[in-house]
Amino acid sequence: SRVLVLHGPNLNLLGTREPQHYGADTLAGINARLIERARARGVACDTFQSNAEHLLIERIHAAREDGTGFIVINPAAFTHTSVALRDALAAVDLPFVEVHLSNVHKREPFRHHSYFSDLAVGVICGLGARGYEFALDIALDSLAAH
Ligand code: DQA
Repeated sequence: SRVLVLHGPNLNLLGTREPQHYGADTLAGINARLIERARARGVACDTFQSNAEHLLIERIHAAREDGTGFIVINPAAFTHTSVALRDALAAVDLPFVEVHLSNVHKREPFRHHSYFSDLAVGVICGLGARGYEFALDIALDSLAAH
């Protein structure tokens, strides 16, 4: 079984985008580390970023057919807005960890609510790009246990 890592809008700009919040790593660099970390444990890791809500939804639907056993998702701004993306995750019924690079709880109040957290296995925020690695480790442990 495979792990799918999903990145929402504007995360293609990582590395240059508000580095005080999001760090200096690029998305390509983060993805490469995740793919290698999964490969070292014999698991395929797919990554996908989109600025378009419907493409993220369709990628989640595809995960039901392609052998994905666990999802790691940073929904980015859709965290705070998207019932549709939430419903897609509920529909495919795959376990997921929600990741945010920044600590959303010490930022603006509109970032404090997530449409995903009550469905997630767990939520990681404020730990920068390492948060994805921690989430991936949980995904790999979960797949190994099943
Ligand atoms: C984010 C936090 C969101 O509030 C924001 O809209 C993002 C990125 C994070 O990774 O810290 O785009 O999900």
